[in-house]
Formats: sequence, structure tokens, C-alpha cells
Amino acid sequence: MSFKQLVFSGVQPTGNLHLGNYLGAITKFVALQETHDCIYCVVDMHAITVWQDPAELTRNTREVTAAFIAAGIDPKKHIVFNQSQVTAHAELAWVFNCVARIGWLNRMTQFKEKAGKDRENASVGLYVYPSLMAADILAYRATHVPVGEDQKQHLELSRDIAQKFNNDFGDAIRAHGFGDAFFPLPEPIIQGPATRVMSLRDGSKKMSKSEPSDYSRINLTDDADAIAQKIRKAKTDPEPLPSDLKGLEPRPEADNLVGIFAALDNKTKADVLRDFGGAQFSGFKSALVDLAVAKLGPIGAEMKKLVQDHAYIDSVLADGAQRAAAIAEPNMNAVKDIVGFVRRK
Ligand code: TYM
Repeated sequence: MSFKQLVFSGVQPTGNLHLGNYLGAITKFVALQETHDCIYCVVDMHAITVWQDPAELTRNTREVTAAFIAAGIDPKKHIVFNQSQVTAHAELAWVFNCVARIGWLNRMTQFKEKAGKDRENASVGLYVYPSLMAADILAYRATHVPVGEDQKQHLELSRDIAQKFNNDFGDAIRAHGFGDAFFPLPEPIIQGPATRVMSLRDGSKKMSKSEPSDYSRINLTDDADAIAQKIRKAKTDPEPLPSDLKGLEPRPEADNLVGIFAALDNKTKADVLRDFGGAQFSGFKSALVDLAVAKLGPIGAEMKKLVQDHAYIDSVLADGAQRAAAIAEPNMNAVKDIVGFVRRK
């Protein structure tokens, strides 16, 4: 069974959008607009799996929306909305909670990391987070999902859920005329030199929104001075840059900065090493500062401007939600028929 190609991805409105989010996900979102129909979602329901101050959640939802638009996502040609405005996400997540197995969720490394030692005190929502993520994608029967490396395991679980639903309800799916499979098995798109951007302070840790030190990350709203300071202070080692990829392997901090350079300049890491192999970090960092400021500066400035205009941002989200619901609702009705729920017609 073949499905129409459709791209879906989401970003949590939990503050501090950073270079990892930008290079690992948002730049891919922008590029895919040329070749695919795309749906990009600000996943506010995922955000509340850990405590969010309500006023901050509202502000952060608008800020992620502003970042999408400032980075070059066209909300007229494609769809941009916040998750809680389309009820199908929650409805399908419930069905998927009944399809997914506890053993599958127990394997999720992100839950283990986020729940930490005090697992008994984590929200139930945090535990079933991956079911909601599968519902986000599959409510649209989306086929391609651009994400950073850290979401790979969640994408595999989404495929397992889709497969089990197709198997468990195979007879009903055929009886309702949907062929042999109702859901596609969504494919992750995890490509390029910056699928896992690391902390600027520690090359063994992922760059993250929640890391206490602001020097560990470049935020999309950082100004030129902050970007320059953070890159200059970024941890490195005393050796000059190597001339080939093999030379980066034992040097996580160097590898990270080269990957960031390559992604910002639309090159491969090998290209960057061709230009900078043998150079000292001081020279390389100056070039990286110039590049990062040139690429990120205009996006940060546009974001700050857009985020002030609540009426505009909220109208983008409302319009996107309406168009998203028009796709998700018929799919959800079909799921209800397949599962055997009696529904109002
Ligand atoms: P979130 O909000 O943590 O991150 C948004 C996107 O940024 C990517 N990312 C990174 N990429 C490279 N290096 C990093 N250091 C880095 N940090 C974050 C993430 O991989 C992600 O692509 N569960 C998702 C949100 C989500 C979703 C979905 C994604 C909810 N439903 C459906 C795709 C499809 C998350 O927490 O992303």
C-alpha cells in the first residue's frame, strides 16, 4: 500500500530554542518545503509532561512559532499550528496507549533521562509521551519526519505502534476499504553534519534547553556579542584541527565545532577540514563566529520582532489548526470506525 508523501514534525515550547534545534530540525523543515507538503507543530501538550508555568508556556508557544517563520517556514503554503488546538492528537494518543505495550515504553531512554532517579514522581504523561508523539505523526498519516538524532528511538516506537495497529485491526481495515494498512510506517529523516549538536562546554553532552549553563548553548535569540563570547569560550583541545575525518574521532569538542560550521555553511565536515585542517582553534573560531552571526543574527532579530505581534502569531496558529484539523478529523473518524466505536454521523 502506498501513501501520499507528507512531512510532519514538532518542537516543544519549553524555552531556549538553540542551535541544536535549529541545525538538527528547523533547517530541515525549511528545506523540505521545496519538495513536500509539510505540517509543523508546536507541541504544547508534550511540554506539560513536565511542569510549565502557564504564562511562560503561552510565551514559548508564540516564540517557537516566531522561530519557524523567521527561519523561513511559510505558514501559508504549509501548515504551522499548536498541538492542543487539534483534538485528534489527544484522541488518537488514547487509542495508541491501548496499542503500545508497557515493555516498549520501558525501553525509552528519554523517559529514563528525564524522570531521573525520582521515577515514581514523574508524570504519567511523561511516561506515555511516545504514544502522543506517534499520534501527532499518524493523525495525518505522515510518511516522513525530520528530527535530530535524539528522537530516533521515539520514531522507531511510532513505527512499531503503526505496525501493530495495522496488524491488530487488519480485518476491520480491509472491511472499511482501506486496503491492508491504515497507517504508513513513518520514516525518520536524520541527515547531515549536525544531527546531534553537543554542549559547547562538554563534548560528551547534548546541547539542550534545560542545561543550567547558558554557555553550553547558542540560543536563537542570542545577539552577536553573546554568540561571539560563547564560541570563543567553547571548550577545545590544544591541538590544531586535523585534516581528515579520522582525526576528529577522538576529539568530541573539535568534532562538534566542525559539524556546526559545516551545517551552518551547507557543507560536509570533510569540506570544512579541507579549508581549516592544520589551523589553530583561534582562527577557526573567528571564522565560526562570523558565520554563526551572519546566519543566526537575522533570524534572532526577526523572531524578536514577530513574537511581539501576538495577533499575527495567534492568527497563524488558528489558521494552521483549522487546516490541520481538516486532515486529521477524517483520519480520526476512520480510526473510530476501524476500532468499532459508534460515532455521531
Ligand atoms: P524537542 O522539542 O526536544 O526538539 C525539537 C527538535 O530539535 C532536535 N534537537 C536536536 N538536534 C540536534 N542536536 C541537538 N542537540 C538537539 N536537541 C534537539 C530534536 O531532535 C527535535 O527534532 N519529541 C520531540 C517533539 C515532538 C515531535 C513529534 C517530533 C513531539 N511530537 C512528532 C517529531 C514528530 C521533542 O521533544 O523535540
